[in-house]
Amino acid sequence: MDSINTKLESRLGSMVMSNPIVPASGTFGNGKKFQSFYDINVLGAVLSKSVTLESRTGNPQPRIFETPFGIMNSVGLENKGIDWFKKEILPFLTTLKTKKWVSISGFTTQEFVDLAESLNGFPIDAIEVNVSCPNIHAGGVQFCQNQNTLKETLHKVRKCSNSFLIAKIALETNPLDEAIRIISDEGFDAVCLGNTVRGLAIDVVNKKPFFKKTIAGLSGPAIKPIALRAVWEAYSFNPNLPIIGCGGIMTSSDVLEFIMAGASICEIGTANLIDPFAMPNIINSLSAYCSQNAISLRELVGIAH
Ligand SMILES: Cc1cc2nc3c(=O)[nH]c(=O)nc-3n(C[C@H](O)[C@H](O)[C@H](O)COP(=O)(O)O)c2cc1C
Repeated sequence: MDSINTKLESRLGSMVMSNPIVPASGTFGNGKKFQSFYDINVLGAVLSKSVTLESRTGNPQPRIFETPFGIMNSVGLENKGIDWFKKEILPFLTTLKTKKWVSISGFTTQEFVDLAESLNGFPIDAIEVNVSCPNIHAGGVQFCQNQNTLKETLHKVRKCSNSFLIAKIALETNPLDEAIRIISDEGFDAVCLGNTVRGLAIDVVNKKPFFKKTIAGLSGPAIKPIALRAVWEAYSFNPNLPIIGCGGIMTSSDVLEFIMAGASICEIGTANLIDPFAMPNIINSLSAYCSQNAISLRELVGIAH
């Protein structure tokens, strides 16, 4: 693996990374299992599965539905909570040589604040704040879909945290320009676009929604054009806010599209579930592309505009 090809070096604002490839939260566990396939230090960063304040059993089965161009999931942020995470996962993450990012999810603004605050002082490189999850004080509307809630949450998290902060918002966030403005104004370091797209499947035998929670998250190639459009628009609104592209990225060619649309970094999700070597393969292929074309990835960010 040509992991030291400097042409792959990528910058997310002030953060310098060996390459732009990062696992999307929830599709890579906490990285430990992938260590048996390859050295995960070849990744630009390792991003953990979203952790919540309390432990969560997640949603009832079934949790996965396959569609022709992607999968739908209704995992429901199953995890063992922040105390367990600090005891069992953070010590492992801190042994890694690459960047260590932690994803946090809350159901109230205060939960986000408590989570971010409790990570102060730990040797991590970034916190991804998953504001695309439902706010229980707003009838389950996603934090990123309400400008006041988004502003309040990001403001309070920024105030209590000394980490590099990434806001992960939904691809359907509307109006997107307002959300981008809030993320930047509140002093967040980057935006991640984005999460799964809300979808529905019907079980025609039982004549009921396939998932117990009715709506589930669609990911994979089906959402790539939506994610690419969101990255393009975010870059058009504010080229100074570093962007992480996420949604349907399966190949190095997909990564190049996202970078040319304005993303500095790409998160890979569903591809990891199909092929555990998806990310190192993409890195190798990007390395070959850069060498063959005598170009660095950094030169390509936003070039299609
Ligand atoms: C099984 C599964 C679990 C996920 N869990 C999380 C999670 O815990 N936190 C989060 O922010 N996103 C989660 N996501 C969303 C992914 O991180 C990513 O944003 C989404 O799948 C789009 O990328 P993709 O099309 O490359 O998969 C999950 C996605 C899948 C498929």
